[in-house]
Amino acid sequence: MLGGKNILLGITGGIAAYKTTFLVRLLIKAGANVKIVLTESASSFVSPLTLATLSKNPVLSSFVNEEGGATDWNNHVELGLWADLMIVAPATANTLSKMASGTCDNLLLACYLSAKCPVFFAPAMDLDMYKHPSSIASFKKLKSFGNIMILATSGELASGLHGEGRMAEPEDIVKFINGHLQKGLPLSGKKVLITAGPTYEAIDPVRFIGNHASGQMGYELANAAANLGAEVILVSGPSHFTVSHELITLRKVISAEEMYNEVHLHYEAIDVAICAAAVADYTPKTVATQKIKKKESEFSIELVKTKDILLSLGNQKKDQFLVGFALETENELENAKVKLKKKNLDAIVLNSLNDKGAGFGKPTNKITFIDKNSTITPFELKTKAEVAKDIFDEILKRYHA
Ligand code: CTP
Repeated sequence: MLGGKNILLGITGGIAAYKTTFLVRLLIKAGANVKIVLTESASSFVSPLTLATLSKNPVLSSFVNEEGGATDWNNHVELGLWADLMIVAPATANTLSKMASGTCDNLLLACYLSAKCPVFFAPAMDLDMYKHPSSIASFKKLKSFGNIMILATSGELASGLHGEGRMAEPEDIVKFINGHLQKGLPLSGKKVLITAGPTYEAIDPVRFIGNHASGQMGYELANAAANLGAEVILVSGPSHFTVSHELITLRKVISAEEMYNEVHLHYEAIDVAICAAAVADYTPKTVATQKIKKKESEFSIELVKTKDILLSLGNQKKDQFLVGFALETENELENAKVKLKKKNLDAIVLNSLNDKGAGFGKPTNKITFIDKNSTITPFELKTKAEVAKDIFDEILKRYHA
């Protein structure tokens, strides 16, 4: 959820400020760009140098950049507009009250007032301060502005007292924000199943029948679905691609049979399924237990048909929106439409090997999206990441849960 997002982190002067070093690391690890604004008192609790090193950006705390001349000022409006989201953590009673009243006597508050993005605040204070009617009034007012409160937790406080007021742990802050961002997305709460990659059909312990599919199209589809908020199960044959999105669960398989079994384990609970794998159509009838030695000048392997995963999913389809791929070399549209019907699909993505840059083992693809009403939508040659987004745009136009 946070990958590529611009996050403005405002740190105020409470002991929990030391935990923001971990928060910054988690945000950076999640792929976010982080800029930090500190109040003056916050720098007594956490070092600007540590935060600048972790965030890879200068840490700002005053309206004027101390290193520059009088004209070199830190533009709070630009910072506020740069941010896709702002987090104030820890948020002290003092800063929360100022945010609620529109006071603007430091850079952090000026950024807050300039920010148009969602603002999260994670209070941290002693238990009596947390319960004080004045703090509660600030929380209410900020929530009425649309700001989002990350509740403090209960436990031992810096004062030695026990109670509510501890800033949420950095992991929980990140989880909370992820959950919040996910909620507003079009596939939030939905489960998407994707098959990817080639399959390897064993001949003997050292040899197999495979194909040139890299798996990239399926992995990009998984990323696109996760970016739309879906929980994704990616069933992949051998591929060097990896997943980093926390909403994607990767299930690695090798053969067509294993892919068939893994896919069917999940299918019933799935909302959208896309079969992008290049599954072997045939597999050796028997697998030699020992390495086959060369003897005769000619050698043949008896092959039997694999189970068609997509066909089976089409036959069992209830409410799932089912999408297949068709890789064709001739009569492309006609062949794709036949597959769509035969496999009971909602849509099929056609790749033609006649199109330059399309298909296997390339970072680009050129597709035509065909739905079950025979509406045909052709696309230009694009990167596979862009193609994956186009495919989900088309699915979202047609899939209504
Ligand atoms: N597919 C599958 N299981 C198989 C074979 C294919 O799930 N055993 C899926 C592919 O993932 C793809 C679609 O079926 O989404 C079409 O695959 P393709 O190889 O183009 O077509 P086939 O049905 O195998 O027919 P043919 O090879 O005769 O073109």
